[in-house]
Amino acid sequence: MIPIKTLDELDAMREAGRVAGTVLAEASAWMKPGVTTREIDEYAASRIKAHGAKSAFLGYEVSGRKYPCHICISMNDEVVHGLASKRKVKEGDIVSLDCGVRVDGFIGDTARTVIIGECSEETQKLIDVTQQSLYDGISHALPGNRVKDISCAVQNRVEANGFSIVREFVGHGVGRTVHEEPQIPNFVSAGETPELRPGMTIAIEPMVNAGGMKVKFLSDGWTVVTRDGRPSAHFEHTIAVTEGEPEILTCLELKPSASAVA
Ligand code: MF3
Ligand code: CO
Ligand code: CO
Repeated sequence: MIPIKTLDELDAMREAGRVAGTVLAEASAWMKPGVTTREIDEYAASRIKAHGAKSAFLGYEVSGRKYPCHICISMNDEVVHGLASKRKVKEGDIVSLDCGVRVDGFIGDTARTVIIGECSEETQKLIDVTQQSLYDGISHALPGNRVKDISCAVQNRVEANGFSIVREFVGHGVGRTVHEEPQIPNFVSAGETPELRPGMTIAIEPMVNAGGMKVKFLSDGWTVVTRDGRPSAHFEHTIAVTEGEPEILTCLELKPSASAVA
């Protein structure tokens, strides 16, 4: 069953989304060459606390194991779920931050890939296209459309630009828990998908590889990396389906201009 949020629940989702978006912006701006990913996680933890929220990821159970960090920090060829460590970020790295917070029982979930200084033109394009594909997906989150319409919009943008979509992880409904129905894949497959209705709150989150789509786990059991070692980018917003245009609950950045990428 796909939960439909009441007006009061939507207000709570707005607050959780606002905090998640703010912490993501704060942690993104705070990063600079020489800081360790552990320090980034600690900074994010302090900001989550300052906003009166709790990390939704710390202790989150996946296959019987609890996630050990406050946010997910994934660098370069790491796709998602990277762990904080004593590794330092340096000029030219790309760092994906994924921030999930709980406020008054509701979750906001948002992610973005940040460039430390400057990166190669190809990697810059990967990041721009991934972000644009998220906004393409969001623009199709309209009442009466189906989940598949979101998936199709994301996939078209990514593949038109020669990049590939990770299949093993998908977007999802979000509310009282991080992951609820429905799944929101970033690619289309055979079969019917649910109709979108006002009051649904969902996280759309394309994970896009510069090279091939294949991924594997590192031996820490969490970090997902590309098999070919090429970079990967990740953008995510929690949104509400409304009677009209979708409402982005985690937005604190300017939308990219449509002309930025093909
Ligand atoms: N990054 C995932 C998402 O956005 C959730 C992370 S779960 C964790 O849906 F346990 F790995 F943190
Ligand atoms: Co997330
Ligand atoms: Co998510």
